Amino acid sequence: MCGIVAYIGKKEAYPILIKGLKRLEYRGYDSAGIALLSGGNVNLYKKQGKVANLEEFATGKDISGHSGIGHTRWATHGLPNDINSHPHTSMDGKIALIHNGIIENYDSIKEELISRGYIFKSETDTEVLVHLIDDIQKHEKVDLVEAVRLALQSVIGAYAIVVLSKEFPNQLVAARKSSPLVVGIGAEGDFYLASDATPIIEYTKQVVYLDDEEIAVVDLKEGLKIINIKNQVKAPYIQELEMHLEALEKGGYEHFMLKEIHEQPRSIKDCFRGRLNAEKGWVSLGGLKDYQQKIMNSKRLVMVACGTSWHACQVGEYLIEDLARINVEVEYASEFRYRNPIINEDDIVIAVSQSGETADTMAALELAKSKGATILGICNVVGSSISRITDAGSYTHAGPEIGVASTKAFTAQVTVLTLMALSLANRKGTLSSSKFHTMLSELEAIPDKVQRILDKNDLIEEIAKVYKDASNALYLGRGSSFPVALEGALKLKEISYIHAEGYPAAEMKHGPIALIDEEMPVFVIATKGTSYEKVVSNIQEVKARKGKIIAIVTEGDVQVRDLADHVIEIPDTDEHLVPLLATIPLQLLSYHISVMRGCNVDQPRNLAKSVTVE
Ligand code: G6P
Repeated sequence: MCGIVAYIGKKEAYPILIKGLKRLEYRGYDSAGIALLSGGNVNLYKKQGKVANLEEFATGKDISGHSGIGHTRWATHGLPNDINSHPHTSMDGKIALIHNGIIENYDSIKEELISRGYIFKSETDTEVLVHLIDDIQKHEKVDLVEAVRLALQSVIGAYAIVVLSKEFPNQLVAARKSSPLVVGIGAEGDFYLASDATPIIEYTKQVVYLDDEEIAVVDLKEGLKIINIKNQVKAPYIQELEMHLEALEKGGYEHFMLKEIHEQPRSIKDCFRGRLNAEKGWVSLGGLKDYQQKIMNSKRLVMVACGTSWHACQVGEYLIEDLARINVEVEYASEFRYRNPIINEDDIVIAVSQSGETADTMAALELAKSKGATILGICNVVGSSISRITDAGSYTHAGPEIGVASTKAFTAQVTVLTLMALSLANRKGTLSSSKFHTMLSELEAIPDKVQRILDKNDLIEEIAKVYKDASNALYLGRGSSFPVALEGALKLKEISYIHAEGYPAAEMKHGPIALIDEEMPVFVIATKGTSYEKVVSNIQEVKARKGKIIAIVTEGDVQVRDLADHVIEIPDTDEHLVPLLATIPLQLLSYHISVMRGCNVDQPRNLAKSVTVE
């Protein structure tokens, strides 16, 4: 939530910041702003709306400067207007600051500052920080770094900040707590700072991820120095980025979401590469190896997540319970953290998160850790906060996901959870050897089957045309297809703003059936398997109320074809692996409906990809 980027060095800062903000726009797009240090002045450009608006606004103005900070906002406090846009400046305009996070005690700090004569321009929580730093600097007669450090000691909440001051033109001061921040070390003694590595990758692969309560000082003369807010010096741990620039481009697709949907044959394969060998009957998640025994012996696994990742956990629950016979509880991280949950030392708490930065998921893990539980992570973003605080974990290796609506990250999460279930089941002996071998082969075949579904894009687009003007939609599924229904409904509402609900098919008659009429599209996952006949009955119930049925069926199905208005066939596979296939047509349907309705597919209104506030 909110993206921040900064540069100091010999290059012109503006093009780096604008490009960086575009890369970070998935984190929020309510407004954007830049402050540049030029000719001893801090020049400020801020505009409501997307980065493109800011770019247009800055055209023709003085955009020179070798040091600058930029921000793309997802509004928390105050409307998304020009004034509330970051950067915020001190009253004398000497200091500019960008912030991602929430200052929870901003009210009391603000009151105090107002009583001392500070005048606030915006409604943001952030503005208190810049005035506080200014105030400390003036009254305590300290330099910028010390003023930032002291200011942060009075702050409760989450922050990633970068501060620029015209009195310290060779320096940028950055700090983080609960919101991510990466320092890029350039080859020419220059430095980059950003919420994630995407704005940096083009210039350098040498990065340092800051830890909570650390302050990074990048100084053109003295280089990089890291201290913490207690003023202890920390040795920077420099890492080499493995990301590639092409992964951040649309690669000929109209939208990132479409590109990411089409990447799934590869991303699923990348996810199980080196972890699965069907021929040799072998599966292993290296990152979790040391904890395998502990997981097997544990009485329960608790999975915490938000949004789409929570749906992946639900699929994981079906898989792990059914195959490995280990009790799994899936929790919304936001609920778990506040409901005084019972956590024992022998519990294993697993966070599933694409970004690895979701504030509620982080807090749930921290709570579990404080109670002595083992904490594990399944993340996509390498080096993310969750991946660093957990005892161990597994990366999903889906590659950068830019579209706000999650697609390939979901199937990669489900793939990791499937590998985990299979590995545990094999070790525990809860799965027969022949079933285990069959499932490994089936999993290996999934990428090709996903491709076969993607090849049906034209059919899916035709179906989308029929339902693009719907106001409501229902998604039904049973077993592990129930979370797929939830995910299908979430995709539709996120990007096309059609109200959609996912339901276990049999629950439909306890309420949603009242909504069904000839206007209501009902998407049903009716693939071959244990509940097939039951789902067919549910379809009949919808039919009897004149609902429109769009069914996802197994290739060759005839029974549902007779009942449904439209069918989309998916290749046959083991029942446990159906979520990896059934989700694909639902992603494509939502995508096409969104495009046809003229919605912003990659950046849906009010949403952000990485939710670093609770
Ligand atoms: C936001 C995103 C979703 C994502 C959720 C959890 O709501 O828009 O796509 O599923 O956060 O994010 P995480 O990074 O923890 O998976």
